[in-house]
Amino acid sequence: MRIVFLGDVVGRSGRAAIIETLPGLRERYRADFVVINGENAAGGFGISEQILTELLDAGADVVTTGNHVWDQRETLIFIERHDRLLRPINFPKGAPGRGAGLFKAANGADVLVINAMGRVFMNDLDCPFRAVDAEIEACGLKRGADAILIDFHAEATSEKQALGYFVDGRASAVIGTHTHVPTADEQVLNGGTAYISDAGMCGDYDSVLGMNKEEPLSRFLTKIPNGRFQPALGEATITGVGIEIDEATGVAKAIGPIRLGGRLSQAEPAFWVRAATPV
Ligand code: FE2
Repeated sequence: MRIVFLGDVVGRSGRAAIIETLPGLRERYRADFVVINGENAAGGFGISEQILTELLDAGADVVTTGNHVWDQRETLIFIERHDRLLRPINFPKGAPGRGAGLFKAANGADVLVINAMGRVFMNDLDCPFRAVDAEIEACGLKRGADAILIDFHAEATSEKQALGYFVDGRASAVIGTHTHVPTADEQVLNGGTAYISDAGMCGDYDSVLGMNKEEPLSRFLTKIPNGRFQPALGEATITGVGIEIDEATGVAKAIGPIRLGGRLSQAEPAFWVRAATPV
């Protein structure tokens, strides 16, 4: 079974790239299931209902979020109508929406997607480790879910690595998001969980984390806000990972980076593309 996860979509540049590329990508990789983090899709801050619909129409099965989930006030309302939009599971009790869901993949498999948020250098939410643990205990691999994918939206790589080891063998994949910079540590852990510290962003990399450079640079230099952060509008690099899941066990066989378009060095999961393109 093949799962594609794409990192934080930033602004119009990221959205345009997803809408243009994802339908073909789904086909090229014969992907069974696609998850996208969309928490910066609306001008860099949050997600609107229209943008959510665009991402789903382009081929996302589930859209995850993080600390920016409520930046667009309408999200507090429309999230209740969309079970394919997740917010971090460890928000305080009573938060609108849901932090996990069981979804049908194209191959008929039931995929449990869990969205959690870290606490190091971030808001002090409930413990993400215990929240994820409770979810996996309730619907474990081959005890309710054929695959379990965790988007861990966190700042600190240490916290992300720790969560990876915490669920190793009990989840198919732990994918870090939030930093907007892809890491090169994708690997299958000893117990079979695919792991990467950060999937990166789908956005313009001629930027500071997807935003025009001028305002962030000026704030570092002067400590005075001069204006709003505006998303950079150059061509996006789509970044993320492809994960091959062992259908018998639900854990991962392989994980490989995806970096397409824009400025970053280009990469595709070799275990998929080699099979599709004879050399
Ligand atoms: Fe974030």
